[in-house]
Amino acid sequence: MSKKTDMDKVLQRVEQIPTIPVISQKIMEISGDENAAVRDFVRIIEKDQALAAKILRVANSAFYGFLSKVTSLEHALVILGINEVRSVVLGCSVYKFFSRSGSKGFDRTRFWKHSIICSQVARFLGTRFNVQNGNSLFLAGLIHDIGKVVVDQYFQEDFQQILEHVSSNKTTFSKAEKKVLGTTHDQIAGKLLKQWRFPNEVVTQVSNHHAPWHDKNHGTDSIIIYLANLLAKLAGHPCHPDEKQIDLHEFANSSELDFIVKSGFRLDYERLRKLTSDIQELVLAEADNVMRLFK
Ligand SMILES: [Fe+2]
Repeated sequence: MSKKTDMDKVLQRVEQIPTIPVISQKIMEISGDENAAVRDFVRIIEKDQALAAKILRVANSAFYGFLSKVTSLEHALVILGINEVRSVVLGCSVYKFFSRSGSKGFDRTRFWKHSIICSQVARFLGTRFNVQNGNSLFLAGLIHDIGKVVVDQYFQEDFQQILEHVSSNKTTFSKAEKKVLGTTHDQIAGKLLKQWRFPNEVVTQVSNHHAPWHDKNHGTDSIIIYLANLLAKLAGHPCHPDEKQIDLHEFANSSELDFIVKSGFRLDYERLRKLTSDIQELVLAEADNVMRLFK
């Protein structure tokens, strides 16, 4: 497709993207079933031994920091909880779906590193700000930018133009995407995740990760994903080296931060700076280990 691809054409093409593995679909189905028991989840997951092993590796990683060794899927489900295991299953599925190497000029490893750091930061912020029911923060943080790899994979010519536009104008992906595609990666991801029947809160958080003020129902969680993305970048891990850098002074005086403060987050320049260094010290040390878990 050439420059100025029609937005409808993009969204129609997204409709043709194949679905994620049956196992993930089944996990989503039974997650919504109140009568489903741990045994039902185990029965589905154990059909895929590679996935079962991955869940155990994740449960035993420093990411969770459990003191005792998690030795069985039942134990992992009890200790992590069904929602967390669902997040790991879905996160692994999406990672596998989009793990092949990307186009020239877009480093997929760097992309996933940013995403994994964002998932860690989202969970860290969820704890720091006492977010209740923040079960989907890890998953939403992990897949918040998958719209970019959708464009990379299915609209390669357009994606090259987007990368060129980002580099030569030092602008954001969203601005470049709007110019070239007429839509943005957050909207594309929202559409795909809806199509894949991902949990509503995940679709909302991913769709609004650049504009949490558009989320009327799950404001706090969407703000966490917005902040996690911003802080991952401030901590030195953007998903692309040429994208517009965030100026902390500018952000601290912005209407965006005003909205976040009014939503109940006590943040200012100093607190954001401190959070950035806490994240660098506490969370990022584990990023490479977490990345290995998904492979
Ligand atoms: Fe983004």
